[in-house]
Amino acid sequence: MGEVNDLSFKEDVLYLENVYKSYDTTDGTLTPLKGISASIPAGAFVILMGHSGAGKSTLFRLLTRLEEPDKGRIYYKGNPLSFYAPTLLRREVHYVFQTPVLFPHTVEDNLTYPYKLKGEMPTEKEMTDLLTQCALSPVYLKRPIDQLSGGERQRVNLARSLSLTPNVLLLDEPTASLDPDSTVQIEKTIKSYHAQGHTVLWITHHPEQAERLGEIVWRLKDGDFVRKAVAQ
Ligand SMILES: Nc1ncnc2c1ncn2[C@@H]1O[C@H](COP(=O)(O)OP(=O)(O)O)[C@@H](O)[C@H]1O
Ligand SMILES: [Mg+2]
Repeated sequence: MGEVNDLSFKEDVLYLENVYKSYDTTDGTLTPLKGISASIPAGAFVILMGHSGAGKSTLFRLLTRLEEPDKGRIYYKGNPLSFYAPTLLRREVHYVFQTPVLFPHTVEDNLTYPYKLKGEMPTEKEMTDLLTQCALSPVYLKRPIDQLSGGERQRVNLARSLSLTPNVLLLDEPTASLDPDSTVQIEKTIKSYHAQGHTVLWITHHPEQAERLGEIVWRLKDGDFVRKAVAQ
């Protein structure tokens, strides 16, 4: 897996150098990220843990340029993030939000969208296969989004993200509102996505899930990572 603390970033897909992020709040300035440096080797499976409010989602927002660091730099494939147009960057380093943002049409409409971006049209089988991988029966294809539960929307969102085939997948508690069977299916799907050579960063609160999935576990605590490599 390489050295998690090795900061020679030529081989790294993502590299963070002394990254700070603060927010002005009614209670004063809050600094969830206090000078984080980290290298993420291409093809790694990183589990990100840390208590609620520790800065996990903030980190994902910085990695996709939804927000900018106050200090420090982030590199993707050796170039500063600012080198990439945000929309293109977000297709390669793709943030699967905890609360999905979907078009208020059918599941099918949502799944065809990423293909249209690439000038393609998916077959019905491609779409139903994606749904199955994300623990949804093919019958969901024609369903309107506004008739789905939160967990079902989360799975449609994941299916849509996977169809973009991002190089780096950022998953923000993707199984938080799912039942155990669906959780097992999603874990299997993401493991196989990772096995195809993609990099995965997965936020979870569950130590058992971290043990099952991660090669590297990083806990955000007091603004920095506490690192731990999981013995395989
Ligand atoms: N836009 C913002 N304005 C003010 N505070 C924010 C903003 N975004 C996040 N925060 C605060 O920063 C901290 C880290 O947030 P977040 O990254 O969402 O935490 P986590 O995902 O680890 O639960 C939290 O205390 C949150 O309230
Ligand atoms: Mg969060």
